[in-house]
Amino acid sequence: MKAIQVGLLGIGTVGSGTFNVLQRNQEEIKRRAGRGIEITMVADLDTARAQAAVGAGVQVVADARAVIANPHIDIVIELIGGYGIAKQLVLEAIEAGKHVVTANKALLAVHGTEIFAAAHRKGVMVAFEAAVAGGIPIIKALREGLTANRIQWLAGIINGTTNFILSEMRDKGLDFNVVLKEAQRLGYAEADPTFDIEGVDAAHKVTLMSAIAFGIPVQFDKAYVEGITQLGAQDIKYAEQLGYRIKLLGIAKRRTGDATTVTHKGTPDGIELRVHPSLVPAKRLIANVEGAMNAVMVHGDAVGTTLYYGKGAGSEPTASAVIADLVDITRLHTADAAQRVPHLAFQPDAMSDLRVLPMSEVVTSYYLRLSVSDQPGVLAKVTGILADLGISIDAVLQREADEVGGEGATSTDLIILTHDTVEGTMNQALTQMQMLPTVLAPIVRIRKEELA
Ligand code: HSE
Repeated sequence: MKAIQVGLLGIGTVGSGTFNVLQRNQEEIKRRAGRGIEITMVADLDTARAQAAVGAGVQVVADARAVIANPHIDIVIELIGGYGIAKQLVLEAIEAGKHVVTANKALLAVHGTEIFAAAHRKGVMVAFEAAVAGGIPIIKALREGLTANRIQWLAGIINGTTNFILSEMRDKGLDFNVVLKEAQRLGYAEADPTFDIEGVDAAHKVTLMSAIAFGIPVQFDKAYVEGITQLGAQDIKYAEQLGYRIKLLGIAKRRTGDATTVTHKGTPDGIELRVHPSLVPAKRLIANVEGAMNAVMVHGDAVGTTLYYGKGAGSEPTASAVIADLVDITRLHTADAAQRVPHLAFQPDAMSDLRVLPMSEVVTSYYLRLSVSDQPGVLAKVTGILADLGISIDAVLQREADEVGGEGATSTDLIILTHDTVEGTMNQALTQMQMLPTVLAPIVRIRKEELA
């Protein structure tokens, strides 16, 4: 049978990786897909560079719409990125009856509802394995491998840049800004690293995973997003002394009032959707994911906890995910659209409207660091505020004043770990503790996940 023809929009790192892996493994891929898969047309503004990447046998154009208009092209791969022209081109490709493969997490996390609805109407597939955690087949696992389960929570290290920075901060005891500069010098962090270090990239990815895990719409605007820019080296060190590592986690958790899921003193039903630095017990496998690697834990009621680990970015790891989508589409594109795996795992008319909870209703535990006067009664006042608000303490670590501030110092660090509490209650406690005259600096609060 004739090879299925693919058009590629944007040939940078991932695009050239996709072209190369498809060529290198073409026989193996054909044996799996049932027919060949060939990139026959590429659109890129830099046509000379694109032609050099794919060789003379592939048509290269500057105008992406020429690819979409080509009646021989069955599948369009969008690797342009961003919400602007990429959105228009994806919608036009769908309208033209093409299947779409994309690595564009930002586009789908923000405009996924519109794009999936358009694809459903036209009976085409929009596949996006490469959008989350690069080479790790986490979309496939969530959407198909775990389909028997009521998924209860997932938590992932889904941004390699920030995991690299946190690993370096811990290993070398350096502050964030120093490590960021070094990461940029070495090419681990982008010249403009804002989306990575502020947690936005991770929030795009966890938003997509939450939709597939719980059958809710993609709702990036409801995600809580906090990056790693405010993290200090001393908190990483104290966390270590207490048996924890600090990781930037993307978390999606179902909180409903049935017996099988997490509840906390009558808190309302909903979905927690959040990205922030988290203490994780050092003994958990995910706490030991270092450098630019990614990992995602998923807990389902039948399977228990599962863990997926691998490269979250890079040319061929991401190409591996793009090509897996090409193979899926090649196998399924002649099947009745109703028999295909739904874009968000659940049938479009069976989506849930369970609300995404505001951060004040989230339930988690906390690490607090207070810079306090080293005098009698301080600890009693602080713990009294927590007790009055019903917040249970898990552990306390108080440093000798001269260890923290040098000989003769009159202030010290007080570290408190709490048990689970509602974030709104913790906010009240923080306000009251901050007003104590013996609390000398803004209190550091970092959330903690046991991931048990
Ligand atoms: N910038 C991302 C990361 C990779 O650092 O993991 C692409 O999503």
